[in-house]
Amino acid sequence: MSSVHKLEEMPQPSGPRLLSPFRLRDVSFRNRVVLSPMQVYQATPDGLANDWHLQHLGKFAVGGFGCVVTEGLIVDPVGRATWGDLGIWSDDHIAPLRRITDFVRSAGAVPAAQLHHAGPKAARQRPWEGFGPLTEVEAARGEPAWVPLSSSADRSAPGWHLTREMTLDDIEAVIAAYGAAARRADSAGFDVIDIHAAHGYLLHSFLSPVANRRTDGYGADIDGRMRLLLEIAETLRANWPEGKAIFFRISCVDWRADIEEPFDGWTIEDSCRLTRELHRRGVDLIDCSSGGIRGATSMSGAAAKRTGLKRGFQVPYAAAIRRETGVPTMAVGVILDGAQAEGIIARGEADLVAIGREALFDPHWVLHAARDLGADEDWALWPPSYGWWLAARERIGIAQERG
Ligand SMILES: Cc1cc2nc3c(=O)[nH]c(=O)nc-3n(C[C@H](O)[C@H](O)[C@H](O)COP(=O)(O)O)c2cc1C
Repeated sequence: MSSVHKLEEMPQPSGPRLLSPFRLRDVSFRNRVVLSPMQVYQATPDGLANDWHLQHLGKFAVGGFGCVVTEGLIVDPVGRATWGDLGIWSDDHIAPLRRITDFVRSAGAVPAAQLHHAGPKAARQRPWEGFGPLTEVEAARGEPAWVPLSSSADRSAPGWHLTREMTLDDIEAVIAAYGAAARRADSAGFDVIDIHAAHGYLLHSFLSPVANRRTDGYGADIDGRMRLLLEIAETLRANWPEGKAIFFRISCVDWRADIEEPFDGWTIEDSCRLTRELHRRGVDLIDCSSGGIRGATSMSGAAAKRTGLKRGFQVPYAAAIRRETGVPTMAVGVILDGAQAEGIIARGEADLVAIGREALFDPHWVLHAARDLGADEDWALWPPSYGWWLAARERIGIAQERG
């Protein structure tokens, strides 16, 4: 591990705000760039992490990210999106995750766990298998479907599984599952938990009036629809160390693949109200995504084609929540390069930026952004195993020849 930078050894560039440190509670981030949570569908059937996840997440820490967030770790097996999801529903999950957090930390990044329950979007095929509900084909090879849970009995999209409305006992159990998952995330060495309450999954299905048609205390009006999240936030704070940070990822507005936005669903005003309530319960930062209450995901299909072309399309939500509530935010979605990310931080639109698909394309995204912003002329931010050679490559003109 000696070839990898440690946090205290990292030079702190004085230039771009993007590369300036950030602190929440006792957690110090070396810069403002976060690896966005991304499922890779490579877990064992028991939801255990393996070498694939170690190399996958490890390389982003080596690539300069200030914080590396896991894919959604499933808190209860009924909430698995696919049979390839990572889990955190049992103590068996802790040790393989610990290998990852140890490496990520040794490379200077903050290890963060996303906690997840897919709710109505459970029991699906992996993206490259169709991204639809599990069928007889998958059942024949040992990956059968099950009945997903949701705020109300419904189908997330035409042809999807019919969900079962959660009973009060189910709700009590899921709150406890989040608490247990937080304790395991702490044992596994994570410093941040990011609660996935976006994209039409379980917690979003409670928030959004499009999905939640309950008439009891967990529905009916906005206070009822927020209640499950607020109770989960309280449980998390009670089961997660005081010095460690909690993020919530929310869909700041609902939009649907089949109609133009805006439409009458969860709104940015609702998000500000939720943010204040979460913050009161010890949540430190809002991770600002959008959409997904109906259809496969917010990032595929017709709506993504439209919004996916637009740089920074969700940044205004992070800016609005930060401005209206004073609570720190993270911006995500089609943030492509260092200059764009620097602008978001420098203008105060968000405290952190999360990078998803661009990181898959370029695991050294942060180190390249630092070079592009003129903040790492001497390759000092790179691990010396790479940086020494890249500086020499530049001196002898190979880098310039490449253009
Ligand atoms: C392969 C893939 C897997 C994803 N898995 C998750 C996930 O587990 N949890 C989550 O909150 N978002 C997930 N997302 C959404 C990303 O975190 C991110 O919000 C989205 O891709 C937009 O950012 P980008 O334009 O930088 O890719 C996933 C996206 C991709 C491309």
